[in-house]
Amino acid sequence: MTPVEPLELLISRERIAETVKHLARQVERDYPGEMPLLVAVLKGSFVFLADLVREMQRPVEMDFMRLSSYGSSTSTDGRVRLRLGVTAPVKGRDVLVVEDIVDTGLTTSYAARYLRRRGASSVRICTLLDKPSRRQVPVALEYVGFIVPNRFIVGYGLDFDEKYRHLADIRILAGGSDEP
Ligand code: IMP
Ligand code: MG
Repeated sequence: MTPVEPLELLISRERIAETVKHLARQVERDYPGEMPLLVAVLKGSFVFLADLVREMQRPVEMDFMRLSSYGSSTSTDGRVRLRLGVTAPVKGRDVLVVEDIVDTGLTTSYAARYLRRRGASSVRICTLLDKPSRRQVPVALEYVGFIVPNRFIVGYGLDFDEKYRHLADIRILAGGSDEP
């Protein structure tokens, strides 16, 4: 059992739930016709996607892609690799990328570029968390749940070395990295 006690609480499950509901309302309002295809970037966004779609009041389709960046478990060296692409046809569709966190922006901008190249008619980003202090490439974020400080955070899908994804709240990893 992973000890949760030493991990400082950053965002409670109640605040997350409220914000996810609010994001679902915003998305529904912005797409009055057909809902966009939601494309979640695995693995971190699986919890957020699951909660987000259950707040939607209109039918919505979803697909997944998986990207990984090279580097250590808390930092990236800038290269992103596609490990799993979408299977749904994207051509001519409005797509909403669902992200857990945008940090350097490399992963998200890769995902957006990939979807545009496959012919999506529009690509917008919905991220639960935004860590703007570490951005390396500019990314336009249409929907942002919370802006977070430059700390390494876990829970609600976010991991450190595959641990802590199951935590219901978002927490700061004790001894977590603030490395640039
Ligand atoms: P990027 O740096 O914006 O490309 O983000 C790459 C990935 O790093 C994200 O999708 C997350 O999976 C992960 N990541 C970035 N910051 C954190 C963090 O504070 N905690 C856990 N994972 C993170
Ligand atoms: Mg991720």
